[in-house]
Amino acid sequence: MDNTENRQNDENNDIKRTGSKAPFRKGRGLTRRQFLSYALGGTGAFMAMTIFTPLVAFAVDPLRRLGGKGSLSATTWRVSDFNEQLPTHVTYTEHIDDAWNSHDIPNDVYVIIYQNKLMIMSHVCTHLGCHVNGSYKDAAHKISAPPQYDGGLYWFHCPCHGSLYNIYGVNSPTSPAPDPLSIYTYEIVNGYVHVGPDIKRTDATWDVNPNPTIT
Ligand code: FES
Repeated sequence: MDNTENRQNDENNDIKRTGSKAPFRKGRGLTRRQFLSYALGGTGAFMAMTIFTPLVAFAVDPLRRLGGKGSLSATTWRVSDFNEQLPTHVTYTEHIDDAWNSHDIPNDVYVIIYQNKLMIMSHVCTHLGCHVNGSYKDAAHKISAPPQYDGGLYWFHCPCHGSLYNIYGVNSPTSPAPDPLSIYTYEIVNGYVHVGPDIKRTDATWDVNPNPTIT
């Protein structure tokens, strides 16, 4: 009797004994118990993967962003828009990647050239965060003028508690502001300035500028 006849006999015996054909027989393939274990295990693994994969990606996303260079915001400025004599007031849309959130907000900064680099200064007073003003000959259009505060020594003035800063954003010794204005990182891309995150400065590090030279 060959294998085919043996298998047919086994199936006939199954039908006589149970009234139906047994799909699996011990020793020749999967038992019912094994089949159910594999089926349930596979279904469970698939459901777990469906649920946890998005959660893991969601949790790891901020780490991926922190590991990058930080987001850069494109502007319409060219290096030729700025000079070494006085800060120039300019605006742009800042793109912020903040952990799980990305959003755009309007921002304005003051830019001067120092030691062949742009010094892009924050408008945020380092005392309590008010918006500092510059020295203007046309305040409505923010057209720069020579320093006009404290006998021409300081260019920036904070309207909240009177802090003064020079043209490089360095605070006066008598100001309540404890530090110079922060500066922003930047890159020049196809001739346009792209602005990155800001960097805190101290009176000892006010001239430390990690940005690329502009020529
Ligand atoms: S917030 Fe600018 S001096 Fe106080």
